[in-house]
Order: sequence, then C-alpha cells, then structure tokens
Amino acid sequence: MAAVGSAVGLGNIWKFPYITGQNGGGAFVLVYLICIALIGIPIMMSEVMLGRRGGKSPIGTMGAVAAAEGRSRGWAGIGIMATLAAFLILSFYSVIAGWTMPYIVEAAKGGFAGIGADGSGAMFGGLLASPGQLLLWHTVFMGLTVLVSAGGVKHGLERAVSWLMPALFVLLLILVGYAMTTGHFGEALVFLFRPDFSSLTAESILVALGHAFFTLSLASGAMMAYGAYLKKDVSIARTSFTVAIMDVCVALLAGLAIFPVVFAHGLQPGEGPGLIFVTLPVAFGQMPGGGFFATLFFVLLLFAAWTSSISMLESLVRFLEEKGVGRVKAAVGGGLAAWLVGITTVLSLNLWSDFAPLAMFERFEGKTLFDIYDYLTANIMMPLGALLTAIFVGWVMKPEHSAAELGGQWHALWYAVVRYVTPIGVLVIFYFNLF
Ligand code: PHE
Ligand code: NA
Repeated sequence: MAAVGSAVGLGNIWKFPYITGQNGGGAFVLVYLICIALIGIPIMMSEVMLGRRGGKSPIGTMGAVAAAEGRSRGWAGIGIMATLAAFLILSFYSVIAGWTMPYIVEAAKGGFAGIGADGSGAMFGGLLASPGQLLLWHTVFMGLTVLVSAGGVKHGLERAVSWLMPALFVLLLILVGYAMTTGHFGEALVFLFRPDFSSLTAESILVALGHAFFTLSLASGAMMAYGAYLKKDVSIARTSFTVAIMDVCVALLAGLAIFPVVFAHGLQPGEGPGLIFVTLPVAFGQMPGGGFFATLFFVLLLFAAWTSSISMLESLVRFLEEKGVGRVKAAVGGGLAAWLVGITTVLSLNLWSDFAPLAMFERFEGKTLFDIYDYLTANIMMPLGALLTAIFVGWVMKPEHSAAELGGQWHALWYAVVRYVTPIGVLVIFYFNLF
C-alpha cells in the first residue's frame, strides 16, 4: 500500500497527460507502456528485492548487499545517486503539489462555475506569476511532508492510501464519464491509442523511458527504502505487478479525462505543465455538482502527491538516521534543504522564466532551472541508476541470492530480462539521444 502511495501521484495525473501531449500522443504512450513492462517492472522487482535483502537506507543497502556478494562497497554509488535524484525531484514536486491548494480553495468557493478556457488559463497564469503565492503553498506542502516523515512513515500512511486510491479511481471515472459527453471522446481515444510513429523522436523515447521510472518511483531510492520494510513472506513479483498496473490505470484514466476536454475547448495538447490545471476547471465548471467534485479532486490529488513526496524524503532520512542523526532532525533538515532548492523552481516559473543556465547545450536551450531539474532526474539520473541496478542484479549478484528473494516462479524470466533486455534497452535509448 505504501508503495502504491509512492507510485501514484503527480506523475500520473499531472505529468503523464502533459508529456503525452507534448510528445504527440499514441506512439509515445505505446513506448511508455513497453518501458513500464520490459524495464520498469523488472527494475521495481530488483529494487524491492535489494531493499528487503539489505534492510537499510538505499545507500546502506547497496553497500551492504555488494559487500555480502564479496564486491566493492562502491556500489553504494547507486544509492547515492538515487537519494540525490529523489531530493531534486522533491524540491520541484513540492512546488507543483502546492498548486493543488489554491485550486482547492477556488473550487470550494465555486470559482470554476461556467469558466471557459480563457478564464481558466488566466487563473493559472495568475498563480504562476505570483512568486509569493507559489512560495507559500510550496512551504505548506513541504511542511506536510516533513511532518509525516519526522513521525516515521509506517503507520497512518497505509491506512490513508487504502481509502485514497479507491476514491481517486472513482473521481477519475466520474471525470471520464463527463469527458464522454463532450463529443470529443473518440478524438482523444485516437490521440492516446493510435500510434503515429512519425511524431516519435529519439528524445520522446527517452522521455517515455524516464517517465516509466519517475511514475513508478524507481531509481530514486523510494522503492528500495520501502522494500526494507517488506515482510519476508510477501511476493515481490506480485507486489510489483500490482503497483505498476494501478499506476498505469490511474495515468490512462487521467489521459482519458483530460484530452476530450482539451479537444472540445480548443486547448493545446502540448500546452505543457499547466495542462491539467487549465483543462480540468473547465470540465468541472460545466458538470452538475462540479464545485463539489472539483474540491474533492484537488484534495485527493494533494493527498496522492503527499504520499509520494513522503517516499522521496525517505532514502535521505534513513541514511541520516544510520549516520546517527535523529529522525526528526533528519526529516526537518532534508525537507528544509529541498525547500530551499525548491525556491529556484518557484522563481523559474516567473522572475527567472528567461533564465536558461545551460543554454550553451542545444538540448537545454530555453530550459529553465525547473526544466533542468526535471530533465536531469527523469532523463539522465534515473535511466543511469536503473542501468547500474540492472547490471548489479544481473551480473554482479549471485542468482541464487536473488532467487532466494524472488521465488522460483518468476526468477528465471526476471533474470533474463535484467541481464539483457533492460541494460540493452537503456543503452540503446541513451545512444540515440547522444549521437
Ligand atoms: N512516482 C511518483 C509520481 O508518479 C513520483 C516519485 C518519483 C515518487 C520518485 C518517489 C520517487 O508522482
Ligand atoms: Na506514478
């Protein structure tokens, strides 16, 4: 349950629709699904397995498991990069999650009633233009994250997720139901599920791969850290399949809810990070009971983001705990540092929106700090971390040891995939993006 809470978040409802829109739809969705199946799930099994075997923070776990295999503790580098990626993600994730709170307020006031695409766009633009507002909500969200993290994540969290997920599903279904009445549902189906490979670039494929890791909370220590809490008798394969399937379902439902509205109101699929915040108020503003559903939706989105952000802080907090820092100090210190870095994301949405510090590289032209954090984590650090993880479990760790964790049934298939399919897949995608 906690792993589901980590996986399902802004990645599904905010990021998936907007990157699908930016990368041309169907072909991108297909590549993303293939990446989830062939690379994401095997890596999730690997990380949960390593976490349970090591029983420590991801950094501690990688060092300990490598040492137990008679190999260098340098493999702890995988844990270090993962912890760093999670930290960077947390810094901007908190800013985006913060957006849900003014939307809750506005929805509760009935502010979406009858709103059109222009009004909704102006509302979102107004929020981004205000560093003060963004900073306030970023601060509140980081505070909420630290609060749970400082208290130890085991309790409350699982109970929260067990009602949160069904509620989120129901609400997304209601939104999809509304989307069916817009007259543009068929167009959205075609956009999402009819692959047009001419729109697929090497970079789109890298984005799809990166998103498979991001959305499943991989290569960020989250799954490895939660794996350390997993009981011996729980099936790692079954847990990983369940998490991945639920995660994919939420993302696809979000896409089905959003794109019909996009097409019905002449909005741009490639609009970018504001896509759902511009689109959904229009939908809520037109459906009966929209104010109520909108409030509920943004509350649920806030909770979904919260159960994800808690897992982002976990690797760092556990690592600091192992170094003798108390849990509360570790959570507050980690959260404070991520909050500080998050301020640069706040500013890159307004005052620094023209500041593209890496513009000398073609790939980063026009990319703000926020864009860079996102690119660096999802498209570079996560694929690299997953590649090293696959090499570790496929070529360094003795197969008897992984078999002892994974059970015989799935082990042979998993082993073949992590040895060959995953590393070759990541390397090929990297290669075509570099050259
Ligand atoms: N999987 C989360 C989401 O989709 C994001 C996340 C990334 C969580 C990395 C933890 C670690 O929103
Ligand atoms: Na996700």
